Amino acid sequence: MIKFDKPKKSEYPQIANLVNTADQIYLSIYSQQEFKKQDCASESVEKLLEGEQNREYLCAYDENDNIIGYSSFRLKNSQTVWLSMIYINPEYQNQGLGSTLLKKVEEVAKKLGALVIVLETDKKTIWAINFYKKNNYQILSDENLKKHPFDKVLEKKQVNGRYILGKKL
Ligand SMILES: CC(C)(COP(=O)(O)OP(=O)(O)OC[C@H]1O[C@@H](n2cnc3c(N)ncnc32)[C@H](O)[C@@H]1OP(=O)(O)O)[C@@H](O)C(=O)NCCC(=O)NCCS
Repeated sequence: MIKFDKPKKSEYPQIANLVNTADQIYLSIYSQQEFKKQDCASESVEKLLEGEQNREYLCAYDENDNIIGYSSFRLKNSQTVWLSMIYINPEYQNQGLGSTLLKKVEEVAKKLGALVIVLETDKKTIWAINFYKKNNYQILSDENLKKHPFDKVLEKKQVNGRYILGKKL
């Protein structure tokens, strides 16, 4: 049985390892140089400790209490939850676990009072875009981003080469 829970600090090395392993997929779209520049596979216990001051963490555990999924997110403003990361151990991918973890995050986001959940990803991350579309996220256009309830998502213009995806909760 898969369980979902907030991680303990003692489990942060496991999370860093999971993120850094799953990040290897970015080598299919980035050169080694870009991979480094984009901070891929650079998760560390220190960064997780620093991030916990303004983000929520939620993990998926297998029957032996090993972490096989990780997500981090934050209430960006009263109506918006920003999904910073979602990762599934590559050995467990494509079995529906990412979608289940995402649903758990959406439940928490609703409880926090958010109206929308959003994220940003490189236009080249086909696997992620497919994953979010399968979970009813839409690519947000400049027009969408001007209208309620997506109007508080960005303070600045969208970045070239990246998509903002989002879903009403
Ligand atoms: C994105 C991620 C969390 C999805 O987790 P998952 O457990 O595989 O997700 P699910 O099993 O619920 O959903 C699978 C769907 O994701 C998409 N997908 C997953 N891997 C894919 C791939 N290699 N190529 C294309 N689509 C892919 C497909 O839509 C697939 O559904 P389908 O099989 O019906 O086509 C996982 O691939 C991952 O950890 N990737 C690395 C980190 C990452 O890119 N995170 C998102 C950054 S914005």
